[in-house]
Amino acid sequence: ADSSASVSTMAMRRILPVDLVERGRRPFDPPPGLRGRGAVRPVDLLNGARAWLVTGFDEARTVLSDARFSADKLRHHDATSPRPPMPAGTAAREDGMFVFMDPPEHTRLRRSLTGQFTVRRMRRLESRVREIAVEHVEAMRAAGPRADLVPAYALPLPSLVICELLGVDYADRAEFQERTAVALDASATPEEQGAARAGLYAFMRRLVALKRADPADDLLSGLVHDADPPLTDRQLTDIALGLLNAGHETTANMLSLSTFALLEHPDRLAELRAEPGLIDNAVEELLRYLSIIQLGVSRVTTEPVTLGGVELPAGATVVIATPEANRDPRQWSDPDVLDPRRPRAPHLAFGHGVHQCLGQQLARIELRIGLGELITRLPGLRLAVPAEQVPVRDEMLIFGVRSLPVTWS
Ligand code: HEM
Repeated sequence: ADSSASVSTMAMRRILPVDLVERGRRPFDPPPGLRGRGAVRPVDLLNGARAWLVTGFDEARTVLSDARFSADKLRHHDATSPRPPMPAGTAAREDGMFVFMDPPEHTRLRRSLTGQFTVRRMRRLESRVREIAVEHVEAMRAAGPRADLVPAYALPLPSLVICELLGVDYADRAEFQERTAVALDASATPEEQGAARAGLYAFMRRLVALKRADPADDLLSGLVHDADPPLTDRQLTDIALGLLNAGHETTANMLSLSTFALLEHPDRLAELRAEPGLIDNAVEELLRYLSIIQLGVSRVTTEPVTLGGVELPAGATVVIATPEANRDPRQWSDPDVLDPRRPRAPHLAFGHGVHQCLGQQLARIELRIGLGELITRLPGLRLAVPAEQVPVRDEMLIFGVRSLPVTWS
């Protein structure tokens, strides 16, 4: 079940030099080693290979919108990837991992999926998101006044939303959540993670078969039956797992890290409580300010390219340093300030170009409702430990906290 491997759980410390990864005492700011140097610069990876780091906003947008930068990591070797490239001359791809494809292969699979993110389905999901959020905050309150926000709230909320999206039966949700929890658990052994991922692959395969035989009103059933030309079971399984990989760990970390950031900026939190209409703008600013996908978006050049005055050879691995690009002073004034009233402007937290996050609308709904219900239903919410004791995951592709002990009055 190779295609179930999630790059997002990969520890970056094994590949990237420590100074590009470690945040030190300022957990919300980009690692000091990423800051204030050229917009494009070479870095030597721990595996002996070289890559180019892009910290400039405009340069990052160029990489993500120019076809000379390929996302196809199966054909072009990405030096940060543990996976070897496919041998040259390999026949057309049969998988459904379109995040690692270029147009036109990418276009067809992505379009079959965007066709399923309908307004009606999003509206129904939104009311389910609210029910799930309320249910979990109320369970915390009943057991409180103390909880670890990560297992109690941040992880189950997006996991259950994906269950809704894929139409996972209530009876199967405990199994689904347990397997995803182990697959994402940084402290699990590689064997445990591998077993959990293989189990998830088998789970998704069964789900696809079920939706083929007995369609319901969910997105996966829609994909199974409406895609034209039809998708294979392999592609459908990869797409379902892709949605889980892309939408779970990301949203979970955004929820818990945003809460941590707001608790550490009490005046901002007070503003939000006083003015609930500010939440949409605040979510957008948190996405920019926290930029949790740290060094996880990368491309490979298909020919020599000059970028930001730097010459890149063909086959160069280009890594977008999103946290730093989203603080580019050429793009924002006072970029290091968390300001929920900042005028809206495009940012890179959801990427850019043809691969721009397909679930961003859903992610925004989850963050707006997830944070909103939390801060209104738990007055006096605060950290239960000193901020320095909150364990951060700076070595992971997706930044966040491992746990967030909170209490309330
Ligand atoms: C792609 C971020 C939530 C589904 C991406 C990319 C980024 C991103 C940066 C671009 C990757 C690249 O260009 O290589 C985020 C963040 C999220 C989030 C920060 C939460 C706050 C979600 C959710 C879903 C989702 C909830 C769906 C349920 C996808 C998919 C892609 C993607 C399918 C691949 C799109 C493509 O390759 O065309 N996301 N995402 N994401 N995201 Fe999200």
